[in-house]
Amino acid sequence: MVSQNKKVYVAMSADIVHPGHLNILNEALKLGDVTVGVLTDRAIASYKRVPFMNFEQRSAVVSALKGVQRVIPQATLDYVPNLEAERPDFVVHGDDWKEGVQRVTRQRVVDTLAKWGGQVIDIPYTTGISSTQLNKAIREIGTTTDTRRGMLRRLLGAKDFIRVMEVHTPLTGVIVEHAKVDMDDGPRAFDAMWGSSLTESTVKGKPDIEAVDISSRIANLNDICEVTTKPIIFDADTGGKIEHFKFTVRSLERLGVSAAIIEDKVGLKKNSLFGTDVDQQQDTIEAFCEKIAAGQSAKVTEDFMIFARIESLILDKGMDDAVARARAYVDAGVDGIMIHSRHKSPAEIFEFCEHFNKFRGDKPLVVVPSSYNSATEEELVAAGANIIIHANHLLRAAYPAMLSTAQSILRHGRSLEADSQIMSINEILSLIPGTK
Ligand code: SPV
Ligand code: MG
Repeated sequence: MVSQNKKVYVAMSADIVHPGHLNILNEALKLGDVTVGVLTDRAIASYKRVPFMNFEQRSAVVSALKGVQRVIPQATLDYVPNLEAERPDFVVHGDDWKEGVQRVTRQRVVDTLAKWGGQVIDIPYTTGISSTQLNKAIREIGTTTDTRRGMLRRLLGAKDFIRVMEVHTPLTGVIVEHAKVDMDDGPRAFDAMWGSSLTESTVKGKPDIEAVDISSRIANLNDICEVTTKPIIFDADTGGKIEHFKFTVRSLERLGVSAAIIEDKVGLKKNSLFGTDVDQQQDTIEAFCEKIAAGQSAKVTEDFMIFARIESLILDKGMDDAVARARAYVDAGVDGIMIHSRHKSPAEIFEFCEHFNKFRGDKPLVVVPSSYNSATEEELVAAGANIIIHANHLLRAAYPAMLSTAQSILRHGRSLEADSQIMSINEILSLIPGTK
């Protein structure tokens, strides 16, 4: 029998259900049959961090709440597509959406409902509790190894692209964790961290030639994990010997790292940005595919990802070689591809993308616009990139600042003249909570 009751629509993320949500549902229930639109991961990630629980888990929680008759996905922050499909008599929401950025969303709901005589019901906001407060509290508790490891795959499913910044110390991890700018379309932050071999080696005063051993790098990552929650993509250089790479995969997985990227070079590894100025040798396709397969079989979890990094353009081996290798590595079962270039222009990256897009299936593509940094994230994503790594910029910013301060103190025989270029004593003392 079709219900004669009025139709009521409520949208929520429901990552953390609190009394404010229950209050809204109670009020909604008084008006009729309640359908809840649970925001998808992608809808939530369009304005804040990806939720702790995935869509299925959040939907299961909401379905079990008293008075909820149906749960449907809401795929955008905008209510209109669901409202057009559902044609509810009422939309119920906390009255906080009358202010700030949510005003526009509310107005669109009012205008849409007006087409069939529907109405918005604003419920007085439950003060003293909010998801934002609870999220902050949860972040203070931290994350778990499993949650962090799985976060990269979740982000890939929920966001148009993943914005990654290098880390080489826990302090740089803290910067990547918290740095945020407010843009017209909402806050913007980094999604993940890149464990760069270049910056991790340089900060230890060593060349980027796999001279810092894996144990030391893992110890460093462990310290970074102590003070961060975002996912980590690890620069595993060549991956070393196949037999050793299997252990590296296990160690990274155990630590909660989400992905390792191995490059198709052999012998003494040199930094890619030297290109052909130094002696660098590419692996054979067959041997590298074997390394990929060995890494995949060593994995314990489904979440951990192994990316193959193609060095053909770095080594002037040509586009055909790069594309042939991408094909072979995909066929060998890699989880994604990284294409690298040292050209000033992004043209060869865009050309690679055109080829790759034809056979890539759902394999994500990583790009590292260090030399071709005139290309915007938007252009790279439009070409087909899914993960954009800003690979070395925090260390490149820090070193000149530190050297200049050291030289100022030498020059003046005191530190007074350096004051204007450094943070104050009060600022450094209050930088890390708990220092006082
Ligand atoms: C790194 O950051 O260590 C990288 C990227 O591997 S690059 O330095 O461009 O080779
Ligand atoms: Mg490297």
